[in-house]
Amino acid sequence: MTEVGYSEKVMEHFMNPRNVGVIENADGYGKVGNPTCGDLMEIFISVKDDIITDIKFRTFGCGSAIATSSMVTEMAKGKNIDEAMKITRNDVADELDGLPAKKMHCSNLAADALHEAIKDYKKKKGIE
Ligand code: FES
Repeated sequence: MTEVGYSEKVMEHFMNPRNVGVIENADGYGKVGNPTCGDLMEIFISVKDDIITDIKFRTFGCGSAIATSSMVTEMAKGKNIDEAMKITRNDVADELDGLPAKKMHCSNLAADALHEAIKDYKKKKGIE
């Protein structure tokens, strides 16, 4: 942990976020707002044979939101949609070697937006 309480991994993902951007005509799209701070997160997924082949995010959130989104995109890419649906906020935080307690709410955005994008994909496909 650094003196501000962020792990090296959080800092690394914050400085070099993976999968930032937008997917035009995405197969699934999720947008969520964080009631704690009012920040926003969008996730776009491309899906082939129920596997997430591409994923991008765009956020108006803080550094922790950027790091958790970056991590969630790495965790979800290549996964089956049902597996990706099981990724929780805590999984993302654990994978980043933890987040300061005050920042745990930021990780909600990433996992929740991913789940919304998968739900959107399923709805479009008529699955469920
Ligand atoms: Fe809003 Fe972190 S403070 S997402």
